[in-house]
Amino acid sequence: MAAFVIAGGKRLEGEHILQGAKNSALPILAATVASGGECVVHGCPRLSDVDATLNILRHLGCGVRQEGHTVTVDASTLCHGAIPGILMHEMRSSIVFLGPLLAALGYAELTAPGGCEIGLRPIGLHLDAMRALGVELHNDAGRLSFSAGQGLRGARFSLSFPSVGATENLMIAAARAKGVTVLSNAAREPEILDLARFLNACGARVTGAGGGTVVIEGVARLHGAEHTVIPDRIAAVTFLTAAAVTGGELLLRKAVPEHMDAVLATLEQAGCRLRRLPEGILLRAPQRLRHLPSLRTMPYPGFPTDAQAGMMALAGIAAGTTIVTETIFENRFRHVAELCRMGANIRVEDRVAVVEGVARLHGAEVDACDLRAGAALSVAGLAAEGTTRVRDIRHIERGCERLETALSALGASIYKEEEAESNEQTDSAGSAAERN
Ligand code: UD1
Repeated sequence: MAAFVIAGGKRLEGEHILQGAKNSALPILAATVASGGECVVHGCPRLSDVDATLNILRHLGCGVRQEGHTVTVDASTLCHGAIPGILMHEMRSSIVFLGPLLAALGYAELTAPGGCEIGLRPIGLHLDAMRALGVELHNDAGRLSFSAGQGLRGARFSLSFPSVGATENLMIAAARAKGVTVLSNAAREPEILDLARFLNACGARVTGAGGGTVVIEGVARLHGAEHTVIPDRIAAVTFLTAAAVTGGELLLRKAVPEHMDAVLATLEQAGCRLRRLPEGILLRAPQRLRHLPSLRTMPYPGFPTDAQAGMMALAGIAAGTTIVTETIFENRFRHVAELCRMGANIRVEDRVAVVEGVARLHGAEVDACDLRAGAALSVAGLAAEGTTRVRDIRHIERGCERLETALSALGASIYKEEEAESNEQTDSAGSAAERN
């Protein structure tokens, strides 16, 4: 189990170029299947979730080439629509292949992607959306077979909750349906607009994406296209909070302030000075962070659930009390126990966490229980006195590209320990952490 070993207390300073958005790259790479042609997708971060997506594409018969951050997918060789359980389970968002396969082949065979660390991740909304387009579903002991025997048909459909993944699946499938689809209560995340732009570059007719109602006029065929994914607004939170908790100064190149209003407003309320520049975001941290206004996670443009853990790490050392309410996922406070191991003072009752800021955290052994929690614990480690060891960082590597290299370049003392070492070795991690 690889770990990050962090010697805290180093002020971060400098520039970092933000990676492309994982949550855009994954659905766009899946959507290449629907194009039937050759797609060139730039800005794909080097992450294990992207690798899992490329493995599924290869399994389906697509040609895949990855050079740096550019992925070329040739979907003209797509040969079947069945994804085995082992590939479905590698990554939770594998369900976003459902719409593309139905669009391309009129059928798909998948297993449910399963629950995960942050909650159940049900797929009922995805299924309802597909049914609305005329898709039939058979469940054979967990193996789900979908078929659009009569072809996909445009429809009016309203999501009972603006699910990001269900919006994506519906948009992609409807792009090849007969007739017009009107989706209400659609998710409005920037990644939805990015997907619509990609689909339109492939010849689709999608309007209204990024708003609550998306209209998709089905077309008979799509074609390949070239596209660059938007920068990662969630990875941005990791870097901005890392600079903030170390009293640092960071120019985050490529960050798009308009995608991050709720997060930036929160950082400003914590006392950070921000400049929204054409090339990115410049953050200057105060001597001592102030407590945050009450934070409540909401669908976009509300405060993102993916930023909740990172902001809680910050609130943990801010002066005063912050109340955090998680409304999106039912099990997204697992980082709290780990932060408390580092000396944080946080109480949780159901979906509400009360964070009493402490003057300082101390290093500890903690578990990166999920992707964003792991990144947040790394941020906390940067601010803590002594050495923090964040274990099981494969979760972090699903979403953050070479975090240790990027933070080191900004002055942090962090390195990746490939395999678990013995306790004696761990005890001397403080001096080892000085290696960079
Ligand atoms: C996406 C993001 C994830 C982010 C989440 C919410 C990707 C790859 N992942 O996940 O990082 O945390 O949006 O912003 O883009 N739900 C149902 N039934 C369904 C689908 C969802 O009840 O069929 C519920 C979920 O349990 C959850 C809520 O809806 O409580 C939000 O889920 P959703 O927006 O679908 O998230 P994902 O697309 O899985």
